[in-house]
Amino acid sequence: MLEIDSVEGGYGSVQILNGVTLKVARGQMVALLGGNGTGKSTLLKAISGLLKPTGGTITFDGQRIDGLRPDLIVRRGLVQVTQGKEAYPAMTVEENLRLGAFVRRDRAGVRRTLDRVFEYFPVLRERRGQLAATLSGGQLQMLCIGRGLMSEPKMILLDEPSAALAPQIVLDIFRIIGRICRDGMTLLMVEQNVRMALLLAEYGYVIKDGVIHIEGPAEALIGDDNVRLSYLGGTVADRDRGLGLH
Ligand SMILES: Nc1ncnc2c1ncn2[C@@H]1O[C@H](COP(=O)(O)OP(=O)(O)OP(=O)(O)O)[C@@H](O)[C@H]1O
Ligand SMILES: [Mg+2]
Repeated sequence: MLEIDSVEGGYGSVQILNGVTLKVARGQMVALLGGNGTGKSTLLKAISGLLKPTGGTITFDGQRIDGLRPDLIVRRGLVQVTQGKEAYPAMTVEENLRLGAFVRRDRAGVRRTLDRVFEYFPVLRERRGQLAATLSGGQLQMLCIGRGLMSEPKMILLDEPSAALAPQIVLDIFRIIGRICRDGMTLLMVEQNVRMALLLAEYGYVIKDGVIHIEGPAEALIGDDNVRLSYLGGTVADRDRGLGLH
């Protein structure tokens, strides 16, 4: 569904992406992992059209999308969920959600999707008339995921959905993301919470210095010493004792 081939790009004269190649199959959840400042968000921006790649190709659903305007990419069915901070605080929960449906004209369909978003996130239904400014961090994250769903996308890009949230809320959010995927969505998820991301995703990529450094099925990455030592907080002693993560 999404194929990224040798993508390069950056900011001004600073190149951050040095030829990234990765794939996400239809219906799959893929995790994109890596340390701070390694280019994860930059890659998502290149996919969603916020940053124009200087090299390589991005193909979505059989068509090239690199260099397209962000709104046209949303119309093709690919939407990026930004972090909770980007909700409009002075608008209500429902108004924020309806903004996500800007590409749609079918009012009955929009209402049906709104109902589905409320099924995933019942707390948003309870608070539909309240200003987004009154929501907690976890609720704001739910609002942003819900807003992404409102465009009825074929695929969602998630940039650190668990960032800065309390552990219990993180579990809730991941559980719902898993459900959204089981319901047929295709997802590419950037996460710092490597363990959780690999428990949820089928396949993972680790980016380092702007290129894919390690990739493989999630179970293989969880068991990979390099991944474990660098990103899962494992120790050499753990490795030597052959301790699993489960
Ligand atoms: N708008 C920008 N202008 C210039 N440099 C930027 C800009 N945004 C990010 N960078 C730089 O590009 C590099 C990659 O940033 P990016 O946001 O892609 O990292 P990341 O992997 O998402 O990291 P994090 O885990 O911190 O979110 C960093 O060195 C960052 O300072
Ligand atoms: Mg980032």
